Order: sequence, then structure tokens, then C-alpha cells
Amino acid sequence: TTTGTPNHFLSIDDFSYAELRGMLNQAGALKQRLKEGDRPLLLKDKVLAMIFERQSTRTRVSFDVGMRQLGGETIMLSGQEMQLSREETLADTAKVMSRYVDAIMIRILSHADLLELAEAATVPVINGLTRRAHPCQIMADLMTFEEHRGDIRGAKIAWVGDSNNVLHSWVNAAELFECELTIATPDEYSPEKDLMQDITRAGKYARLIEDPREAVEGADLVITDTWVSMGDVDAAERRRVLKPYQVNTNLMALANKDALFMHCLPAHRGDEVTDEVIDGPQSVVFDEAENRLHAQKAVLCWAFGVETN
Ligand code: CP
Ligand code: NVA
Repeated sequence: TTTGTPNHFLSIDDFSYAELRGMLNQAGALKQRLKEGDRPLLLKDKVLAMIFERQSTRTRVSFDVGMRQLGGETIMLSGQEMQLSREETLADTAKVMSRYVDAIMIRILSHADLLELAEAATVPVINGLTRRAHPCQIMADLMTFEEHRGDIRGAKIAWVGDSNNVLHSWVNAAELFECELTIATPDEYSPEKDLMQDITRAGKYARLIEDPREAVEGADLVITDTWVSMGDVDAAERRRVLKPYQVNTNLMALANKDALFMHCLPAHRGDEVTDEVIDGPQSVVFDEAENRLHAQKAVLCWAFGVETN
């Protein structure tokens, strides 16, 4: 039995600016408290089940550690080992899991599958990446930018390379946080229909072009991601077409002097980014990775309806 929809965290555009701002504030507060050695057991005795249909390093470890720091527990499941891989439906899986655990985090390629799971679940469901969206990543990215540069409102952001899940969540964030996002992507790998719709909806906050140099010019933040996402099949062709979109020292030189560089990781060094850039002084990729932990702790507290102060 349940009353109302659980607090799912599925997509950035399910939220208002105020809701996400609240979570980011809590993320910052939890990070500060952790540094001071204060580990409030806000999720004591709560159990989070994590289902991974695909590989993960950051999402897996940061959710696991985050739950433990908050006094909760985790169960790690791989899709392959579950009856999901023998055609049990997402909906039936959700109903069963909801009888055992307090929340579910899932990484699954099909966004429709995520929605089916969330629809049937009576506990909160958190999106740990689908082909369409990676909202936890963008919470960490927003947090990271603001730690280094203050309020992201009005910031000029350049996305260079493939159009994928991380970009999609950034487009949604640019609209809510009123950033100037310029997306440079080759015609061959231009946004799919639903991403295109969200770019259009974002109006003046998101602009799609082809030239990476034009996108980066005057940017406060340059972002890229792998050219071959999980589920992509045409790796060799992608690497050929996307080659001009590599973020290297020459491209970064066109951005503002103090521009930051971000990448959700894992990086494919020598493809979408060079060592000089990702290991250089403008890169904040490991702060981004760390902030997955803090941002997701705030998301978990929100999902469980727990006050953090
Ligand atoms: N950025 C990110 O989600 O990394 P993992 O695939 O390692 O979880
Ligand atoms: N766009 C990448 C992100 C990995 C964290 C992928 O979907 O594989």
C-alpha cells in the first residue's frame, strides 16, 4: 500500500529550480559536515538496492559510500544475475523490490524501462544513467562549477562532441539555471528527437551549432564526454567523425582564460580530450567525481524526505 507517488529522481526536468537549488544547498552542507568529521545518520536502517544493467565505477561506489556515511545499507545487484535477464518485467521487479527495500537506484540503457520501473515502484527510484539522461551527474557538475566560480546563472557553457545522455541533462539544467549553453556536435551525431525538443524548449538557454571553435569562444566552462557511450555500436565510425571535436590545448585556448574543463569520466584520453587538458590546471574532473558522492547524498535525503539540518 502506498499514498501518492514516491520521490523519484529520474530527470532534471522533472524538477523546479527551487527544488534542485535546495538539493545543491544540502549537498554543500553535507560535504562541509563530512570534512568536519560530522556524519549524521540521516538514513539509519534504510536499505538502498542498486541495479546495474551496465558497468559503473563512480555511480556504484559513490552511492554505496554515500548510503554508508548516512547510516544506511546497500544491496548491489547486476541485471544479468536477476530474473530481469530472463524476462521478468520491470514492473513486476519494481513491485517485488518495493516490498523489501526502501529505495532503488538503477542504471539501465532504456529510459522507457526506467519509467516502467518507477511507475510500478512504491519506493523512490533514482536514475543512475539511461541512454536519455544522467541527472545525478549534472547535480555534481552544477555543484562543482559553483564551488569554483559561484552562481552558475548566466554562465557561458560549451558542450563539444557527441550528443548523449549527459548533454541531455545539461540542456535541462541550462534551462532551469538560466545558463548560455552552446552545443557543438557534428551533423552525423546531432541530437535525437526528444533531446532536440528539449533544446528547443530551452529557448535562449541552449543553442545548437556544428563548429566546436565557435562554441568554445568566450566560454566559462567547456564540457565533453566519450564519443562512444554505453549502447553505441559504431565505435570506429564515431571516432572518425568526431575527431575534429577533440578538446585539446588549442581549443581550450579559445575559451575564457579561467574557463573550467569538465568530463563526467571515464575519459578516453587521446580521443575526446588530451592529457594536457584533462590533467591541466583548468580541469576539475576529479572534483566532479568527488561531488557525485555529496550531491547524491542530498538526492537520497530528498528522496527519503529526510531533513538534513
Ligand atoms: N560518470 C559516471 O557515471 O561514471 P560511472 O560510469 O563510472 O558510474
Ligand atoms: N555518455 C556516457 C556516460 C558514462 C558515465 C555513457 O552513456 O556511456
